[in-house]
Amino acid sequence: MIFYFSGTGNSKWVATQLANHFSDALYQIGEYERIAAPLAPQFELKSDEKIGFVFPIHSWGMPPIVVDFIADMQWSGYNNQLIYCVMTCGGECGLTKHQFIKVMEAKGLGCQHIYSVIMPNSYICMKGFDIDPKNVQEQKKQQVNIDLPKIISAIEKDQPIDFYQKGKRFSKIKSTLIYKIFAKYSLTDQAFSSNEECTSCGKCVKVCPVGNIELFDGKPVWKGNCTQCLACIHHCPTTAIEYGKSTKNKGRYVFK
Ligand SMILES: Cc1cc2nc3c(=O)[nH]c(=O)nc-3n(C[C@H](O)[C@H](O)[C@H](O)COP(=O)(O)O)c2cc1C
Ligand code: SF4
Ligand code: SF4
Repeated sequence: MIFYFSGTGNSKWVATQLANHFSDALYQIGEYERIAAPLAPQFELKSDEKIGFVFPIHSWGMPPIVVDFIADMQWSGYNNQLIYCVMTCGGECGLTKHQFIKVMEAKGLGCQHIYSVIMPNSYICMKGFDIDPKNVQEQKKQQVNIDLPKIISAIEKDQPIDFYQKGKRFSKIKSTLIYKIFAKYSLTDQAFSSNEECTSCGKCVKVCPVGNIELFDGKPVWKGNCTQCLACIHHCPTTAIEYGKSTKNKGRYVFK
């Protein structure tokens, strides 16, 4: 079984490649929040399946929704099946690998296969951050088609390889102080708004992985349970959604 989280589709694509290769089922993290389930998410594992986690890097760390999901989830049938993790990033994961190890250790689990792949960047909500130019997006997509098979082969043979993009500078400060500030103050939807370009198509409602958007009088309303995955802003077909002033005149990206 593969548990994945994805905003703009990069991690969903990676999870789908893995699922196709290993003939494993996919579970989208966020579904549980979407239906506001009263019980912890429960799963029954098969004895011969691998257990995968696939998610994007958010502010040099794990998306807090993924941390919470792993802490809450319960499964039956665990008998030392192989566990792996593939993160997708725009270029730098910092110390997220260690964070994942700690989160798994808290569940009494170990993981030898922790990897990352570089994919087109989706972060646009701060000054200085924008999507990659088209040629860089294409280069990254070509490279991931070379890198991912190496990762899949390592998992299949159960022979861990060194495949992780930590980044060059200030990893510790990025993955501790900056990540903590992000997790505490940035998971807010208060700065989202839609403008007159909105056609009431409902796409933002559909793509929000946690069901945080509703249409009211044909316009999106954000309900205060955002994870900053940015699916809504990037998927809007008329670029009608902005995040304060910081996304004005910036590009939009979804994996195709
Ligand atoms: C809130 C947020 C924070 C991000 N922080 C980082 C980061 O610290 N390092 C990085 O390389 N990419 C970062 N990114 C880019 C994403 O990790 C990358 O584009 C990822 O592949 C998106 O996956 P998805 O399409 O499955 O959502 C960030 C994206 C978002 C939305
Ligand atoms: S996706 Fe864009 S156009 Fe469609 S309802 Fe949402 S804001 Fe409006
Ligand atoms: S409101 Fe937008 S950014 Fe927040 S979780 Fe939903 S899709 Fe992601």
